[in-house]
Amino acid sequence: MRNWKLLDEADIPGGKDRLRLYQGKDDFFIRFNSVSGELMSSRKYGSEQALGSLPCQRIKNRKKARVLIGGLGMGFTLAAALNELGKDAEVTVAELIPAVVEWNQGPLGERSGYPLNDSRTRVYTGDVYNLLQENQRGFDVIAMDVDNGPEGLTVKDNDKLYSGAGILLAQKALKPGGILAYWSAGPDPAFNKRLRRCGLTVEEIPVFAHGNKGTKHTIWLASQGQ
Ligand SMILES: C[S@@+](CC[C@H](N)C(=O)[O-])C[C@H]1O[C@@H](n2cnc3c(N)ncnc32)[C@H](O)[C@@H]1O
Repeated sequence: MRNWKLLDEADIPGGKDRLRLYQGKDDFFIRFNSVSGELMSSRKYGSEQALGSLPCQRIKNRKKARVLIGGLGMGFTLAAALNELGKDAEVTVAELIPAVVEWNQGPLGERSGYPLNDSRTRVYTGDVYNLLQENQRGFDVIAMDVDNGPEGLTVKDNDKLYSGAGILLAQKALKPGGILAYWSAGPDPAFNKRLRRCGLTVEEIPVFAHGNKGTKHTIWLASQGQ
């Protein structure tokens, strides 16, 4: 963290910690204040892009596709989803922390190509859980990356999104034939099993964090039927 400049910090609603945005020589970093750990960096985002592109590639021919992304972060998932979709699509991104939205409107947004400025983007500042509750049969794709994976770091309350009840709620928010996509820092057999128990057909896809070697993250694509 030497030579990093602290640009801003923000409270996490419902969490005990704070998030900090740093700028290094070539990259941005979002870190927790007290827990040692990085939530995101602009150095490695291959798997975040895959979370947006893999499910949206499968529904790209649908007219007026509607996509929900849980967690803006550095905007890479949002940008990748927009890149796959047509002009008539609408992508809602839910972000819990207002400052993260502001950071993406500023210099940080340049890394992902300012996807918040795309006319197809809608921003909801709040808990993505609320949108799942309010939108039955609302989305063709729901892509979830609100944390480190099913074992959350940001707010304990996020466990509800990865529980059986949370998965069923997300399923109800899907249009027929829609796809649920989840990101995780690594494999999680219990979560994979939970998705299947909810009657979903599940693909577990390891994706390089950056380029084509090194650390892999996990993406699950889950759909109804078959
Ligand atoms: C790991 S980052 C997402 C990274 C993102 N996929 C990208 O491409 O940069 C997780 C984001 O989810 C947000 N978040 C955490 N819990 C949330 C919730 N319940 N609802 C909406 N956003 C949430 C965090 O503030 C953070 O910005």
